[in-house]
Amino acid sequence: MNQQLIFTDTPGAELDRIVDAMGRPQTVVVADVNTARLVVPALRRQSRTLSDAPVLTILAGDAHKDTNGLQYVWHGLEELGATRRTLIVNVGGGVVTDLGGLAAATFKRGLPMVNVPTTLLAAVDASVGAKTGINFNGYKNLIGAFYEPAASLISTCFLGTLPRREFLSGYAEMLKHALLDSNEALSELLRHEPDFYAGGGDVLLDMLRRSVAVKARIVEQDLHETGLRKALNLGHTAGHAFESLAMARGEALPHGYAVAAGCVVALILSHLRLGFPSGALRLFASYVTRHYGPVAFTCDDYPALLGFMAQDKKNNAPGRIAFTLLEDVGRPRTDIVIEPDNIKVALDIYRDLSGI
Ligand SMILES: NC(=O)c1ccc[n+]([C@@H]2O[C@H](COP(=O)([O-])OP(=O)(O)OC[C@H]3O[C@@H](n4cnc5c(N)ncnc54)[C@H](O)[C@@H]3O)[C@@H](O)[C@H]2O)c1
Ligand SMILES: [Zn+2]
Repeated sequence: MNQQLIFTDTPGAELDRIVDAMGRPQTVVVADVNTARLVVPALRRQSRTLSDAPVLTILAGDAHKDTNGLQYVWHGLEELGATRRTLIVNVGGGVVTDLGGLAAATFKRGLPMVNVPTTLLAAVDASVGAKTGINFNGYKNLIGAFYEPAASLISTCFLGTLPRREFLSGYAEMLKHALLDSNEALSELLRHEPDFYAGGGDVLLDMLRRSVAVKARIVEQDLHETGLRKALNLGHTAGHAFESLAMARGEALPHGYAVAAGCVVALILSHLRLGFPSGALRLFASYVTRHYGPVAFTCDDYPALLGFMAQDKKNNAPGRIAFTLLEDVGRPRTDIVIEPDNIKVALDIYRDLSGI
């Protein structure tokens, strides 16, 4: 991975340093309507480069991570006379880093870019690695490219305005990283309330550093997702199924909430299949239930949930449902195929543990 990961209280000043090192190219910001209003002005005050940089503002939310948004950025770049040296600075959550990243990857066959993540999820997940993309024809991230940013400037200074459920959603990905990391990392997260940050702080920046290191270490070994990177899919097989079920019912379930519940299901299967310790499972499940609430479903929903899991694009063989599981905290095993009846048992236990 060539991407620089910079942890800082002053991302604007770091950006100036990078821009100077690049010979001060033209710089264009990509933001969404919320970050253009809530973050870009503060960032401009920290950065000489950004003080008069044009901003291309897309609509907010995953529903707008689409061809319209991408075309809007392409048009903007063309009108601004962007050349291959033009630096794109993505200021936003995963929607901006994914869409702005794909625009940077494709305009004139690739412009340099820097990510300034403004959500917890983008800081620990979407802005790190090389995946860019948009949704297409009803499918998530169907069109995309592996394209590395020059740097990701990770800070806590913009998280104060983040809605609580967005903060919690990102915290779930941190919980996932901690499960892949160590008992020590996990107990550090479980010791805190997920909204303890109260506007940022050094403790949170340290936690981000540790969380990002887990993703960076795995991506480093498998940049193009041929094997090991599937470890990062922990909690996502059941998680995506919960998200799809909620979508089919017209309910909103944030991605991280679904992942938190999906991690509980993965730990139950890990316990049944690989002897994952029951004490750690119980602690994790009770934390998730307390802070995220249960995902509500009944056994009538099992066929639909299994159907969604079978469609997961990380499955190797059609119709077989494969999970990333843990032998213990920090010891992932990928591609573990679980029979539908055993998945139903795990869903039963999930409902017992979360009191639904
Ligand atoms: N490329 C990857 O590896 C990767 C990994 C995980 C997720 N993703 C993608 O990331 C996206 C989700 O990212 P997300 O959760 O950051 O969503 P998001 O970008 O939609 O941000 C969530 C909401 O918070 C708002 N917001 C952002 N920063 C803010 C701030 N500082 N203060 C107030 N509001 C703010 C946004 O405008 C939006 O309404 C999905 O599209 C997902 O597919 C990509
Ligand atoms: Zn995720």
